[in-house]
Amino acid sequence: MLEPSTTAEPRLEFVKLPSAAAEHAFSDDVRAGLSAASKTLPSKYLYDDLGSSLFEAITHLPEYYLTGAETEILREWGWEIVRMLAGSIELLELGSGSAIKTRLLIEEALRVQPTLRYSPIDISFDALRASSTALVERYEKLHVRAYAGDYFSVLASRELRFERPVLALLMGSNIGNYAPDEARALVELVGSALRPGDGLLVGTDRKKDRATLERAYDDPTGVTAAFDKNLLGRINRELGGTFDLKAFDHVAHYDEARGCVDSFLRSRFAHRVRIEALDLEVTFEPGERIHTESSYKFDDRDIERLAVAGGFRVAKAWYDAGHRFALHLLER
Ligand code: TRP
Repeated sequence: MLEPSTTAEPRLEFVKLPSAAAEHAFSDDVRAGLSAASKTLPSKYLYDDLGSSLFEAITHLPEYYLTGAETEILREWGWEIVRMLAGSIELLELGSGSAIKTRLLIEEALRVQPTLRYSPIDISFDALRASSTALVERYEKLHVRAYAGDYFSVLASRELRFERPVLALLMGSNIGNYAPDEARALVELVGSALRPGDGLLVGTDRKKDRATLERAYDDPTGVTAAFDKNLLGRINRELGGTFDLKAFDHVAHYDEARGCVDSFLRSRFAHRVRIEALDLEVTFEPGERIHTESSYKFDDRDIERLAVAGGFRVAKAWYDAGHRFALHLLER
């Protein structure tokens, strides 16, 4: 069993940013979101430990083609991706989750260099601990420095230290969960943590037909509905909420003009919910929705614009055979 170690050369280290502020942020954000005229909850709170497990299950659904398509690109082109920067690299990953796909890049990198440093950032400490422990056990030449927290706090914390050219990874269409202005700010912030010659590999889901997209975000097995409703369960657990999860339906809608799948929890009937820790009563009309996530979809021009706005240029793009998903390498 590998624990965070304090020996001279630990292969696994954890950096946990102070969470007091984060806990406050959750209650403040829930209050603000549920008091707004259009109710909304920030999607990052979907990923508590249960939520991260449910999301992991989503990635196994046939309707959620994104993970399979991205894996296909990594299997086919991973060898080229790790060779794009000059010399030996290290990896920084934003939103690593189970880090299963990352293994493909780790293996390719270890084919061309003797050792590799990998710095995953994830908001779920459980997911981070499980994936990082499994990685150092599996790869003898791998060093992991894992950061628990949200990307913005970790990137802004100046806790990151790099010794080699960095290939930063923002995969799984995570960039799509940010509104366009936030996505630009995130790319810019990653850029400010990197140096010239470093790279940012961005995985995006492509704009495509409505039926395919809406099925990916509202699967018939109901895993996505469970994942979305867990956000209400989390409010019940952490803030003493009285949400009845059965009073809500999960709904996914593709807004073609914005190129974005919006997920909502829709109240089935009129009712009230109390949230003890906030001393707050929330009223729901029949059919009233809480917006829980936006998943933006991209074409090459969208990525080009995002790269330039964030201070990068597009070095290369790779696609799966069905052109459903893309990986773009942005260079500083
Ligand atoms: N990052 C994932 C995505 O946008 C998260 C996700 C998948 C998700 N399915 C969802 C978020 C349903 C909310 C609701 O694809």
